Amino acid sequence: MKKGKGMKFVGDSRISAEKKPNASKDYSEYPGRTEAFWPNYLLKEWLIGAVFLVGFLCLTLAHPAPLEGVADPTDAAYIPLPDWYFLFLYELLKYKFASGPFIIMGILVIPGLAFGGLFLAPFLDNGPGRRPHQRPIAVAMMLLAVSGVMWLTYESSSVVDWEARAEANKPIPESDIEIDTEDPGYAVYENNCMSCHGDDLSGTGNGPALIGTEHDGDEIATIAREGIGSMPADMFDGSDEELDQLVEFILSVNEDAE
Ligand code: HEC
Repeated sequence: MKKGKGMKFVGDSRISAEKKPNASKDYSEYPGRTEAFWPNYLLKEWLIGAVFLVGFLCLTLAHPAPLEGVADPTDAAYIPLPDWYFLFLYELLKYKFASGPFIIMGILVIPGLAFGGLFLAPFLDNGPGRRPHQRPIAVAMMLLAVSGVMWLTYESSSVVDWEARAEANKPIPESDIEIDTEDPGYAVYENNCMSCHGDDLSGTGNGPALIGTEHDGDEIATIAREGIGSMPADMFDGSDEELDQLVEFILSVNEDAE
C-alpha cells in the first residue's frame, strides 16, 4: 500500500472553512465613513491617547505640583478650597436650596441630574442633524450648563484673595542647610536648643529659626543664658567653653546658609 493512500483528512473545527481576508471592509459606499471602527479607528485613538498620557507623565515629573505650607491646626482662618475645576460644585453648596436640610439636592440630585443628562444625551438627542440649529434643546441645555458652571466658578473665586492665599501657603523651601554634626558646638546645641529651634536651626513651633538671626555672637551667648522675649532664661547652663562652641556653631551654620 502506498503511503498516504486511504488516509482521511479531517477538518479542524477551530479554523473556519471560509477564509476571510484580513483587510478591512470597503466603506466607500457609505459616505463619510471611510474606515472600520474596530480595529483601525480605535487603534489610532489609543495611540494618540498613549502619546498624551506619556507627555503628561513627563510634564508632571519635570514640574511636580508644589505643596501648600504645612497644615496648622491652630489656624482657624484657613479656608480649604477644592481645586479650581471643582469650585462650581463647591459654590453650589453655599446656596440655601442645596445646603443644610437640602444638602441632598446639592450633593446628589442636581449633580446627578446634570451628569445623568450628559450620560443619556446620546439617547435623548438622537436626531440625525449635526448643526446647532437642528438640535435646539441639546444646544440650549449645554449653553445653560456651561454658563452655570462659569458663573458658579466666578462667584466662588471672586471672594477669595488669591494673592494673600498664595502668600500664606508658600511651599516650604527645601532645606539646603548643612549641619556639621561633628562640630563640638552641635552637641551643645542638640542638648540645649534643638527642641525649640529645630534640628537644622530652621525653627519649630516652639522657637524661631536661628538661620538669618540679626544677633551677633555676644548677643547669642547672652540670649542662651538669659533668654529673650518669650524664650526662657537658663536654657544653657554649661561652661563658657561650651557656650563659645555653641555660638561658633550657630554662626558657622548661618555663614553656610548665606
Ligand atoms: C523652650 C524653647 C527654647 C529653647 C530651649 C531655646 N530657645 Fe531660643 N528662643 C525661643 C523663643 C520662643 C524665641 C523667640 C523669643 C522672642 O522673640 O520672643 C527664641 C529666640 C532666640 C534667639 C533670637 C532669635 C532672633 O533672631 O530673634 C536666639 C539667638 C536664641 N533663641 C538662641 C537660643 C539658644 C542658643 C538656645 C540654646 C542654648 C536656645 N535659644 C534655646 C525658645 C527657645
